[in-house]
Amino acid sequence: MLAARNIDVPASEIRKIYNKIIGRKDVFDLTVGIPDFDTPEHIKDAAKKAIDEGFTTYTHNAGYIDVREALAQKLKRDNNIDANPVNELICTAGGMGALVLANMILIDPGDEVIYPDPGFVSHYAHIKLADGVPVSIQLKKENGFGLLAEDIEKKITSKTKALVLNSPNNPTGGVTSNKELKKIADLCIEKDIYVIADEAYEKFRYDTENPLFIGSLPDMKERTISIFSLSKTYAMTGWRIAVATGSSELVGAMTKLQEHLIAMPTSIAQKAAGAAAVGPQDCVDEMLRTFRKRRDLITKGLNDIEGVEIDPPGGAFYAFPDVSAYGIKSYDLVHRLLEETKVVTIHGTAFGQYGEGFLRLCYAVSTDKINEALSRLDIYLPKLLH
Ligand SMILES: Cc1ncc(COP(=O)(O)O)c(C=O)c1O
Repeated sequence: MLAARNIDVPASEIRKIYNKIIGRKDVFDLTVGIPDFDTPEHIKDAAKKAIDEGFTTYTHNAGYIDVREALAQKLKRDNNIDANPVNELICTAGGMGALVLANMILIDPGDEVIYPDPGFVSHYAHIKLADGVPVSIQLKKENGFGLLAEDIEKKITSKTKALVLNSPNNPTGGVTSNKELKKIADLCIEKDIYVIADEAYEKFRYDTENPLFIGSLPDMKERTISIFSLSKTYAMTGWRIAVATGSSELVGAMTKLQEHLIAMPTSIAQKAAGAAAVGPQDCVDEMLRTFRKRRDLITKGLNDIEGVEIDPPGGAFYAFPDVSAYGIKSYDLVHRLLEETKVVTIHGTAFGQYGEGFLRLCYAVSTDKINEALSRLDIYLPKLLH
């Protein structure tokens, strides 16, 4: 008999679709969020050098100190976060590794955790794994899928322990404004709530000039675990490396737990992360420029299809169009599109109940693929209205 938590934690709906099409060459896959860029050369070189120089053994449970120092520089430069590399920063096995640790060190059985819906599928699962009670908060199309402090406040009870933030958001591309982030920080301080800030898409913003990071705001360090994954930023999804930061108390607890879970992320990936953090950043700028063009292309193309509606997503690399006009459940629509057009999308409900009526299309793929997918959708979808 398997433990109850196996039943409580659902399998990712994304993987279910993805597994169906794996290895198929005839489909236009807009499903999984993998940038179609290769990891930059200088990062790969650092990994090769690490192997050649023998950095192949266990490391400190929080990661090599020189890597933590490099990551602390990145946090200061990019995120305005002061982190002491000795005890306020930990290298983890991807953002995912940090999210699990964050939930495990903060949540007692029965604690409520507010999380965005539509949202990244694993946020719900991580709360459940920690025996917490997931409380969803709707990201609304009319707010550009950004969070509002006043909506969060309505969800807070005496049992609320933490809030999961993810801006830019997967799957909607929504960005929470700096103004709201400040209000949310004030609210968390007033109500004594922790924040798990999943900054996976920190660099992929198209309209915000000076983004604010909640972990950098006054008095937030002791109640915020900020997680910066290198997966998307440096096209390193397979390397499994991220950095998490917060007070020494929070990071100390995460480090202790990491020792018992995975000991530490791979030594070679750590060295690569150090090189990514302090090396040239033009690779990130280039990806951002490319994604912006694709965002514009897919937004226009989708809006040109009768029955589809989308505002330009502010960040990440996902389009989340409203397809409710077709009157078909988004799950069924995804399967019809796969059968009839070979364009593979993800139903909005894979990301929570408030995703009904929407589809997610990942545009971290070539413009040719986007154009072909759009023209196929344009031929098929309007027929559903007539
Ligand atoms: C919002 C969000 N958080 C976290 C992750 C996990 O990424 P990783 O573990 O590769 O850092 C993803 C991956 O798609 C994501 O979209």
